[in-house]
Amino acid sequence: VPELRAQIARDLARRNIAVDPQDILVTTGSQQGLDLATRLLVDPGERFLVEQATYAGAINLLSAAGAQIVPVPTDEVGPDLDALDAIGKGGAKGFYLMPSCQNPTGATLPRERREALLRWSERSRVPLIEDDYGADLDLEGNGEPIALRALSGDVLHLGSYSKRLVPALRVGYLVAPRTLVPRLVGLKHAMDLGTSALLQHVLAEFLDRGYLVAHLEHSLPEYRRRRDAVAEVLQHHLPQGVRWSWPHRGLLFWLELPPEVAAEDIHEESRKRGVLVTPGTLNSAGATVRQGVRITFCAEPVERLEEGVRRLCAATAAVMSRRSHSLSSQPSYLSGA
Ligand SMILES: Cc1ncc(COP(=O)(O)O)c(C=O)c1O
Repeated sequence: VPELRAQIARDLARRNIAVDPQDILVTTGSQQGLDLATRLLVDPGERFLVEQATYAGAINLLSAAGAQIVPVPTDEVGPDLDALDAIGKGGAKGFYLMPSCQNPTGATLPRERREALLRWSERSRVPLIEDDYGADLDLEGNGEPIALRALSGDVLHLGSYSKRLVPALRVGYLVAPRTLVPRLVGLKHAMDLGTSALLQHVLAEFLDRGYLVAHLEHSLPEYRRRRDAVAEVLQHHLPQGVRWSWPHRGLLFWLELPPEVAAEDIHEESRKRGVLVTPGTLNSAGATVRQGVRITFCAEPVERLEEGVRRLCAATAAVMSRRSHSLSSQPSYLSGA
């Protein structure tokens, strides 16, 4: 409904992203925004780029669309530009990425890399699909990194009220370049005739009254408390050799395992101890699996988080010690000794 599009434009302007409400499509969660974008951009068999470890829901959608998913190697902060240059030469219908609090690694791209990505996109004629799912989840009060869409009107920008407000609302949006909007509107109409107008009016009113900002003032300190509780346990109980970085924004920790430790083993051992973590295998777009597990800290109170992370640390220690025992009991010609 126009009232909600106007409010979303205002909300984006608060975050320094200037858009015309006409270029905003309200969707049933940002998942539908991504579905619409991929349906529009890619036909079966065509190449579509994603970060090497990426959001599992994007892999599902692109697989369902029959796209040839091409993983882009990443370093500590994000896509490797040299690799991207080489991959871009083969052409692609789009590159889906999360520049801020990347899911699953939590990495945030610095501004120079964002600008370089936009230059690459223009040069290689591959559109960027920016998933800004973690908008507003700035846990340090450092301010938001500039969105790709704020730097270029050619970017398709996905937004959502799921993480910063409530996932059950199922309201998100897609900001698209003007030329694509009529076809996206047609597709959206064909899919579901429109996202619940009732919910759209409710959210528009909620935003108009300034309640989102008030909600964040209440929820961010709680998320910070939960993050700090998780970090405290990790600092004291996680075995040596597992790396993690401080989540300045977003709602997740990524534990990077030594390459010889399988994320699936940690998942299984933790599950036996009553804790569910996401193994990096679910986020792998190609054959190369980034061995790590993801923990989210949004949904559980501090005490349960502390207990869960203690059990996860114990499970990780158990898997790693089993592994080193089995290696040392191998005949020396197998262990390379
Ligand atoms: C990175 C990312 N993008 C998009 C989504 C989809 O969110 P929604 O459809 O609730 O807006 C999720 C959900 O978990 C996500 O983690």
